[in-house]
Amino acid sequence: MQSGAQMEIDDPRIVPEPVTSAEPTAVAAPAPAARLADLPLTNAAVLTSPTMLTVEGLNLFYGSKQALFDVNLKVAKNTVMAFIGPSGCGKSTLLRCLNRMNDLIEGVRIDGEVRIGDSNIYEPGVDVISLRKRTGMVFQKSNPFPKSIYENVAYGLRIQGVRDRRILDEAVESSLQAAGLWDEVKDRMRESALSLSGGQQQRLCIARALAVNPEVLLMDEPCSALDPIATSRIEELIFELKKKFTIVIVTHNMQQAARASDFTAFFWLGKLIESGLTEKMFTNPRERTTEDYITGRFG
Ligand SMILES: Nc1ncnc2c1ncn2[C@@H]1O[C@H](COP(=O)(O)OP(=O)(O)OP(=O)(O)O)[C@@H](O)[C@H]1O
Ligand SMILES: [Mg+2]
Repeated sequence: MQSGAQMEIDDPRIVPEPVTSAEPTAVAAPAPAARLADLPLTNAAVLTSPTMLTVEGLNLFYGSKQALFDVNLKVAKNTVMAFIGPSGCGKSTLLRCLNRMNDLIEGVRIDGEVRIGDSNIYEPGVDVISLRKRTGMVFQKSNPFPKSIYENVAYGLRIQGVRDRRILDEAVESSLQAAGLWDEVKDRMRESALSLSGGQQQRLCIARALAVNPEVLLMDEPCSALDPIATSRIEELIFELKKKFTIVIVTHNMQQAARASDFTAFFWLGKLIESGLTEKMFTNPRERTTEDYITGRFG
């Protein structure tokens, strides 16, 4: 893996032209039947899934420094898309664009569009709070609040003004069930969330994100601080969660991208180099840069 210092976007490297036409063929349009035979691992349903997220002509600047260059990408509903690429290539930046988290960073300028369904989330007048309800986020380092397990999961609903105990109880239980944590914590609801293990805390954060019933779940390296067992629990969970949610996951772990995602997008120096079906990307990528990266020959 490359260090951040080596891969800053200012590096004077030759940058391949971004592949702007890669994503619609894989995501928006059903693949021709003949191609399915080449892709034995693909669940055919992902090829015909409607588009959930669309990124169009997205450029992002931190002050005068451009971090994303004309990104065009589609994410299909009820699928998992993995963002991969060397440190500093813009994965987290793009992920944060999907729920307008970059709005919170001073000096950020964005042009282009991000649509959830048909609505452009950067349109003036968009209610950012309700947007973030539609797009839950889970971070690299689990960040439970110093509150009880119960209150962590109920947090988003309480903020929305839900007071009915029965509704809260039901939402807490079903979210913990969905996050694969219920059995481990059902008798510990009043204990501090900070008493949980790292892997449990990360699943708690997933439960907290699920409790407000989002459509999209954004995960930025959710397993990077976890051991292999906790990691495989999260990967199993992702497999279950995509039945209900659309998931975008940033990962540095190539095996994880290959195991957990339906589609993969490879970024380099702020540009989307290539995106498409994961097994195609990992077995027969179109771009040499992608191949070099996924085979560890990069740099
Ligand atoms: N708040 C910020 N202010 C200024 N520049 C930033 C900010 N956040 C990120 N950048 C720059 O934008 C570029 C992309 O960063 P980003 O964090 O999106 O990369 P990444 O692909 O997520 O990297 P990593 O794999 O290390 O997490 C980098 O050059 C980084 O230094
Ligand atoms: Mg990052």
